[in-house]
Amino acid sequence: MIIPRVITIDGPAGSGKSTLGANLATQLGYIYFDTGIMYRALTLAVIEANCDPHDAVAVTQLAEQSEISVHAPTQNDGRQYTIMLDGRDVTWDIRQQSVEKTVSIAAAHPSVRQILRARQRAIGMQGNVVMVGRDIGSIVIPEAPLKIFLDVSIAERARRRVDELTARGESIDEAQLTESIRVRDERDRHVMQPAVDAVHINGDTDTPAQTLAHVLQLVANCPALR
Ligand code: DC
Repeated sequence: MIIPRVITIDGPAGSGKSTLGANLATQLGYIYFDTGIMYRALTLAVIEANCDPHDAVAVTQLAEQSEISVHAPTQNDGRQYTIMLDGRDVTWDIRQQSVEKTVSIAAAHPSVRQILRARQRAIGMQGNVVMVGRDIGSIVIPEAPLKIFLDVSIAERARRRVDELTARGESIDEAQLTESIRVRDERDRHVMQPAVDAVHINGDTDTPAQTLAHVLQLVANCPALR
């Protein structure tokens, strides 16, 4: 069995896995690959094509046809990377509310997941990649030598988001936010598949910097990543 130099990070929305993944990749000189962008870009294609996200055949066809790619940032506007959908920059469009609401429906079709997982696997197996998602350690790259499952309670995720918004001068009702995180977790529940051999990290108590230090220690102790 080929053991690729891949670190997988799975976990729920808002757990800080993207920040952890991006920082870890920078520290190690690896590529950072957030697999959620593929489901988001496909969902944008579904919305723009006026396609019913529940229609497995139509969504699968779009998944087959759509060219989704990730590149180094092409603009200095705060983006971590540039996402292209059929030759168009959709980096910010995939974050819009309509995508947010629809993505878990489009992502649920097994035939869609099969197509996107195969593309994700092809990228991961090239090695030197930190891959972030929901099912990466369990299904996409089960042979990855280091798998992390980053979990943070709903209350803590809500608290962090409130802090973030407050710092930006925006106000939000914490109870409402907590409920929306709960609903989002519920929608993603069927795609969330932690690997049985993942190292579970509870991000409630540690700061992002402590979590990064913890994972760097795990990397240092992992012979296959040396
Ligand atoms: O991580 P995110 O919020 O950008 O993910 C967007 C959606 O894609 C979310 O509904 C979960 C789904 N997703 C998935 O099904 N499998 C993955 N490997 C990554 C994300």
